[in-house]
Amino acid sequence: MASGQLSRAEALASPGCRHACHVMLFSDTKIQLFGRIPIRHIILMQMRFDGLLGFPGGFVNPLKETLETGLSRELSEELGVALQISVEDHVDSCHAPASSPSSSSSSRFITHFYVKKIEEEQIREVERAAATTATDHGHEVLGMVRVPLYTTKGGGGLSSFLSHSFIGNARSQLVNTLLRFNLVAPEELHKALTHSMKIHT
Ligand code: GTP
Ligand code: MN
Ligand code: MN
Ligand code: MN
Ligand code: MN
Ligand code: MN
Repeated sequence: MASGQLSRAEALASPGCRHACHVMLFSDTKIQLFGRIPIRHIILMQMRFDGLLGFPGGFVNPLKETLETGLSRELSEELGVALQISVEDHVDSCHAPASSPSSSSSSRFITHFYVKKIEEEQIREVERAAATTATDHGHEVLGMVRVPLYTTKGGGGLSSFLSHSFIGNARSQLVNTLLRFNLVAPEELHKALTHSMKIHT
């Protein structure tokens, strides 16, 4: 395990820690950009109130709810859809990076990450609800965004997306998941990562 990583059980056994759970929802798709560039997968992130990109989810109180029940509650608020997230969807837990603004002592804040594959139609339903009935829409959540996984002729796409600003370690959660779930070829991801470092706006 990488430094800062801990198992779900270890995380829950850490006394006096705050916990937050976030999830990457994704589906397969046959959509093609401009009718020729395969989009392959739809991955949902959100533009947060603070202008940073992140995953849907939020603070959970393990004394009052399970991590997964709390995550589902956050999804109801932020997406307007009650999606069931289960223990099997858990990917990793780690101490939040020291720069996290919400914690003066980083080791007292643990973020849990989940990944769940759903149907393309469910993704569309989430997008519709997130923009209409979700209680957090327009203030805590400014909108859902899809992650481009391709590289255009001009070098845009995934590299440009990765050059935006992300909350906490959401960027590495995204990158690690692209690899782990085989959503982008490693060499393509490597190229996009290298190029994203060179983009300054
Ligand atoms: P409130 O309802 O305002 O309390 O927000 P929330 O419960 O929705 O919490 P939020 O989603 O902001 O997540 C809580 C904390 O987790 C944030 O302050 C960030 O430090 C961190 N965080 C937020 N999004 C992500 C994410 O996508 N990945 C990671 N690793 N951390 C995140
Ligand atoms: Mn057009
Ligand atoms: Mn929330
Ligand atoms: Mn949130
Ligand atoms: Mn909350
Ligand atoms: Mn809230």
